[in-house]
Amino acid sequence: MTAPKLVAGNWKMNGRMVHLEEALGIATASAAAGDAVDVLLCPPATLLAPMASALTGSNTFVGGQDCHAQQSGAHTGEVSAAMLVDAGATHVILGHSERRRDHHESSADIAAKVQAAWSEGLVAILCIGETEAERDAGSTLTVLAEQLSASLPEDATPETTVIAYEPVWAIGTGRTPSLEQIAEAHAAIRAHVPAGIRLLYGGSVTPQNAAAIFATDNVDGALVGGASLKAEDFTPIIDALKNA
Ligand code: PGA
Repeated sequence: MTAPKLVAGNWKMNGRMVHLEEALGIATASAAAGDAVDVLLCPPATLLAPMASALTGSNTFVGGQDCHAQQSGAHTGEVSAAMLVDAGATHVILGHSERRRDHHESSADIAAKVQAAWSEGLVAILCIGETEAERDAGSTLTVLAEQLSASLPEDATPETTVIAYEPVWAIGTGRTPSLEQIAEAHAAIRAHVPAGIRLLYGGSVTPQNAAAIFATDNVDGALVGGASLKAEDFTPIIDALKNA
């Protein structure tokens, strides 16, 4: 069976308990919109449990934004894959470029986190993408291939793994690659990963550009940052995927 297409929202460090009602509003609107596709919300860890319980029984899931490679131990400030599962998460974003940049995560670190996520039954959403300098230098496809071979364990399957292509220069900037550039990158990624793995595009996805991106070959959904923080932006993106 082919996995349903997927729209994932990455809230990053936005959303607090005092905004729980708003968060649940986005969650329930997403659940109502997402009847033919999978929807995932990745809020801050503090909101996982209340959101997961509000979404029980729907096809809108909650996920973490990172996890540690170890399941427990002396790692102050970290959250393990098992702890995400405790909180009701089914997925975890790994290797986001903000973590690669701010926490100096290497592709080898990320591969270990993917294994940790899998061992707890979490679906790993592995992020890869080139910087602007790498694109300008003509090395985008080489960078993507290198990141995939170093951070994606060989036994990835469509049930355990999703890949998100996120050009670093498109994240939070309002700039996106051309549809030809997205198609080129996704075709290259498709050739490197086991058949059937879902490929998401991420970086400045909006209700305005979503339909064209979803009509691009080898795009199975999106990883959405800023536009996942408001139901009025996020639900049209879900609708665009349903209609793709
Ligand atoms: P953006 O973020 O949609 O705000 O560009 C995407 C992401 O970082 O996953």
